[in-house]
Amino acid sequence: MSLYGAARWCLFRLDAEQAHDHSMRILHKYAHTPLAAVWRQKVAAKPVTVMGIEFPNPVGLAAGLDKNAECIDAFAQMGFGFIEVGTVTPRPQPGNPKPRLFRIPQKEAIINRMGFNNHGVDYLVEQVKQSRFKGVLGINIGKNKDTPEDQAANDYITCMRKVYPYASYITVNISSPNTPGLRAFQHGEALNALLSALKKEQAALTTKHERYVPLAVKIAPDVSSEELQAMAQAFVKHEIDAVIATNTTLSRNAVQGLPYADEVGGLSGAVLFEDSTRIVRELSGFLQNKVPIIAVGGIDSYAAARAKLAAGASLVQVYTGFIYHGPKLIADIVNNL
Ligand SMILES: Cc1cc2nc3c(=O)[nH]c(=O)nc-3n(C[C@H](O)[C@H](O)[C@H](O)COP(=O)(O)O)c2cc1C
Repeated sequence: MSLYGAARWCLFRLDAEQAHDHSMRILHKYAHTPLAAVWRQKVAAKPVTVMGIEFPNPVGLAAGLDKNAECIDAFAQMGFGFIEVGTVTPRPQPGNPKPRLFRIPQKEAIINRMGFNNHGVDYLVEQVKQSRFKGVLGINIGKNKDTPEDQAANDYITCMRKVYPYASYITVNISSPNTPGLRAFQHGEALNALLSALKKEQAALTTKHERYVPLAVKIAPDVSSEELQAMAQAFVKHEIDAVIATNTTLSRNAVQGLPYADEVGGLSGAVLFEDSTRIVRELSGFLQNKVPIIAVGGIDSYAAARAKLAAGASLVQVYTGFIYHGPKLIADIVNNL
């Protein structure tokens, strides 16, 4: 059994959220000690330029694993080409009641309804300042649960202003299924109004900081082709810098009958791969290379990453596959590219 296999065997004996918290504490505490040799690995250089940023390799850590940016250095040691932290909200919030994180190991899947549990944007910025990381850092921003929907743009703007000097790019998360009403910002006038407000703020911040920080938008897989086409048109019109496709799905087709399948929340992992890749392929057709795509959803191997790139993505991210396969997944993908 590999070292990660053994660690996973132990961690999977714990409740999923306890295992997560425990792992994060270890990564945070020991990143700058000899123990980091356990997860440190060198991967091949596979540089790629996207959004005007040079990435050392195209494999990133997806948002939601390091919501408070406490383990950036440890994840960098594992060889990720970029790290996305968050989702962070302006004010700290506890998220949904526990339990809210469930493994479905038969399908290497996860269901979560965390609900943007995080320590707030000021805490996240402090953590970023304390890290030694000099690589590509995405900061994923959202709205507080108790902020009324007609004031959501203010939450994103508050976060943008605070993270702007520290981010390589900023991701606007409008696709979590666990914040009521959030996904409505993906469509129609709500999307248009939000994107125009955020692009206006980006222009002001570019002048203020004399640096352009690209804005990416993260979308859900649960959208029709017609909706996706309209979204793509809005992304092009507003000159969004990248689209991250996709977040978790509300569909349960692929896990029906399995324990926890009926838990409320977003489903991720290998079972999401097909739907998520279809979105990347269709989106790529609609965007016509005008906006780059970062693909995430069910990547658990080199072949899966390759398929996302073939479908039109320029970069990929992993979350659930990384939980099931460990740091070796990063090396497997990057070294084979
Ligand atoms: C436990 C958990 C928490 C997540 N939290 C966030 C989040 O805070 N923000 C976000 O944009 N995506 C979040 N995601 C979604 C992932 O970033 C990713 O888009 C999704 O899980 C699909 O990729 P995967 O199949 O590789 O996991 C979360 C996913 C999981 C499993």
